[in-house]
Amino acid sequence: MNWGVATYDSAFGYVSAHGAPLIDLLDPQPGERIIDLGCGAGMLTAELAARGAEPLGLDGNPHLIAQASSQFPELSFAVGDAADFTVADRYDAVISMSALHWMARDPDAVLARVHASLRPGGRFVAEMGGAGNCAELIAAMQTAWRDYDLPEPELPWYFPTPADYATRLEEAGFTVRLLEYFDRPTRMTDAPDGAADWVRLFAAAPLAGVPSELIEPVLSRVNTLAAPALRRESGWVADYVRLRFAAVRKANGKPVQEMPLLGAI
Ligand SMILES: C[S@@+](CC[C@H](N)C(=O)[O-])C[C@H]1O[C@@H](n2cnc3c(N)ncnc32)[C@H](O)[C@@H]1O
Repeated sequence: MNWGVATYDSAFGYVSAHGAPLIDLLDPQPGERIIDLGCGAGMLTAELAARGAEPLGLDGNPHLIAQASSQFPELSFAVGDAADFTVADRYDAVISMSALHWMARDPDAVLARVHASLRPGGRFVAEMGGAGNCAELIAAMQTAWRDYDLPEPELPWYFPTPADYATRLEEAGFTVRLLEYFDRPTRMTDAPDGAADWVRLFAAAPLAGVPSELIEPVLSRVNTLAAPALRRESGWVADYVRLRFAAVRKANGKPVQEMPLLGAI
């Protein structure tokens, strides 16, 4: 995956802009140690610090971590794969905004690492793409690829249903306290080429497989196909569907209380 650093934070800055309700859900307390998983350019990490927490921003993309570190030199950032990271001490919470659906290779490994990084009772709060996320955009992509006789694009995301993700969370050792699943149509600000801009930025990997002379025609076809559903007079709108949850790490190794034999209830 190749994230365009400059483009990412301008045209699609809405990823960060929508972070405030998630931070409110986490309700970070002064001094709490919190991992921002898939922190990107660090906007949410900085907001956690502004609320008095001690955040660590973790991201797999060294360019984004370099950008975050230079923009917020007083904060801690590290490059790391969410499916494979370790931390020296346990954290009070993990937050993740619009990143878990990119960690598609092994979502259970990601949950295992989050679990291992939290103290018992630690919170895990996240928002991610849910089942049906960007369905119109993806359908336009798939049709455009087919129209140009290209092999089916390999999509880099994992958009689970609420039931699927709740089960994974429970199996990974979390108690799910809240799970919301909702449409969030989102204006693509500063993205005049609409669906094509979205593909360029978020579907760079499948686009890299398109022969160079076909890239512009294919993108133009994506726009034609997506326009009826997603183009408004005021501009393009992405058909986002989100999963937002708050979970708590269960205590490990807690002795099971002996139940007195009082008969059935
Ligand atoms: C859409 S961005 C969200 C960034 C940030 N949370 C925000 O709200 O602005 C997704 C981020 O997840 C990161 N990411 C994707 N897969 C990852 C992985 N396996 N390990 C760590 N970070 C990953 C990407 O590098 C990218 O920065």
